Amino acid sequence: MSTLRDLADEHTRLRPADIDHLHRIAGDWQLLSDLSFADLLLWVPVDGDGTFLCVAQVRPTTAPTAYLDDQVGRIVGGPEVAHLEVAHRQGRIWREGDPVWYGDVPARHEAIPVRLRTADGEAGEVVAVVGRDTNLSTARTPSQLELNYLTTADDLAQMIADGTFPPPRHPGETTSAPRVGDGLVRLDANGKVTYASPNAQSAYRRLGYASHLVGEDLAKLHRRLAGDPLEGTDAANAILAALRGDAPPRREIDARGATMLTRALPLMPAGVPIGALVLVRDITEVRRRDRALITKDATIREIHHRVKNNLQTVAALLRLQARRVSMPEARVALEESVRRVASIALVHETLSMSSDEAVEFDGIVDRVASAATEVAATEVTVGMRRKGSFGVLPAEIATSLVMVLNELLLNAVEHGFPPAGEEGAAVTEGDGKPEVVVSAHRFRKQLHVSVADNGRGLPEQFDAERGGRLGLQIVRALVTGELRGTIELRNGATGGTEAVLVVPLARGSADRLTP
Ligand SMILES: Nc1ncnc2c1ncn2[C@@H]1O[C@H](COP(=O)(O)OP(=O)(O)OP(=O)(O)O)[C@@H](O)[C@H]1O
Ligand SMILES: [Mg+2]
Repeated sequence: MSTLRDLADEHTRLRPADIDHLHRIAGDWQLLSDLSFADLLLWVPVDGDGTFLCVAQVRPTTAPTAYLDDQVGRIVGGPEVAHLEVAHRQGRIWREGDPVWYGDVPARHEAIPVRLRTADGEAGEVVAVVGRDTNLSTARTPSQLELNYLTTADDLAQMIADGTFPPPRHPGETTSAPRVGDGLVRLDANGKVTYASPNAQSAYRRLGYASHLVGEDLAKLHRRLAGDPLEGTDAANAILAALRGDAPPRREIDARGATMLTRALPLMPAGVPIGALVLVRDITEVRRRDRALITKDATIREIHHRVKNNLQTVAALLRLQARRVSMPEARVALEESVRRVASIALVHETLSMSSDEAVEFDGIVDRVASAATEVAATEVTVGMRRKGSFGVLPAEIATSLVMVLNELLLNAVEHGFPPAGEEGAAVTEGDGKPEVVVSAHRFRKQLHVSVADNGRGLPEQFDAERGGRLGLQIVRALVTGELRGTIELRNGATGGTEAVLVVPLARGSADRLTP
């Protein structure tokens, strides 16, 4: 289906500013439709031939529609649009005397000219016409609510013709605006309530105001209701602004554990401020859910932060002990434990800063890799490179994987490139510079990782399945256990050693993981 802009561009000579205005009308006219109990159709005159094109349509949520079929894109001429023609030419609201029939449905036609204010605030020319068509088949003697709605609708219709409705938008308003059915209050020019719909009355009751609203000064009431003087003042000022003819942003009022969203609109048909319309919506449940989510998130982050702190304490204790022991072997063992603990702490640190139970893993790998080159106290400078991306990984996978990579990287640095003088020293492949390359890619919901060095390769009788000391035991236990994956240790095709790791990314979380 074509958009309003496409249709207008194709069939009319409307300027971009006109089309923007039509967009704003279509963004805010549910209000008028609901108050009118009528369908609204936005018609633009087709260039040069006296016909009209329907570019937008909205149905009332308060009454049956007059149109079962979609009207957008229809081009109509002749007697059916005579009322639109009058409104367009004479620039005034036109109401037809006799009902028209759509099949079995009797409807009443009205036409509201759409005017655009000029930059200096003068009433500009008519750029379009809003058809307001009421299904009369269910019409009956109107109730007080209906009379109030219709009066307000007529004020807004006049404001469309004046070019003062819809009011300018406030950027960043994300919660959908309160609708007519959520709760409606009408104020006179002094800010006193002249009408409050039953739903509005209920919303105020939840805030702790149990009496009838009619006759109340609403700005004062808002100030009284809100426990927080600042917030109360905001919601009160919004009403005063609307009474002056401005369109303030939406405001919330919190009282007695309930939250109400308010939207105040000026009523100023023919430029005369006659009061304001205040739409209200009880959003207590929405806010409660928001708050629950925020606290749960914050708690998880805080836990990760504490785990990280605790691990760092453990690492510090081990480091202290390593300094005290005199046996070199024991010292090396303790220093290695420090590195193991520190690399897990890194994952928790990252998790404590993200809003999700998932981490951007590349940054962690890079940090673990550069730590591995630093701590492996060899005289050889080993370069580290990452190819491809790990993407975002869930916390469960990240914690085990960082341990595994830590061991593999340390092995590559420690055993691949022994210091000069030792057996096999300075034997490198490729361009000769000692280098470890970590590569990662995703394939069929699996993460493929390889850690390859260009060093001296595995020892001769190395048992790739079972060989190794604590380091490789940790690696095998984590890969086959926690990660449910596979690992293979082999001599690289062009020398050096390569560890190849395949980790399935859990179903469900795998979708979330795709970067
Ligand atoms: N990238 C590599 N290049 C050459 N030899 C390797 C490589 N990785 C592992 N090895 C060999 O495998 C052995 C076992 O490794 P493993 O990590 O289990 O023990 P470790 O590194 O000696 O001690 P630690 O338990 O402190 O890690 C190493 O001693 C080394 O001989
Ligand atoms: Mg090792």
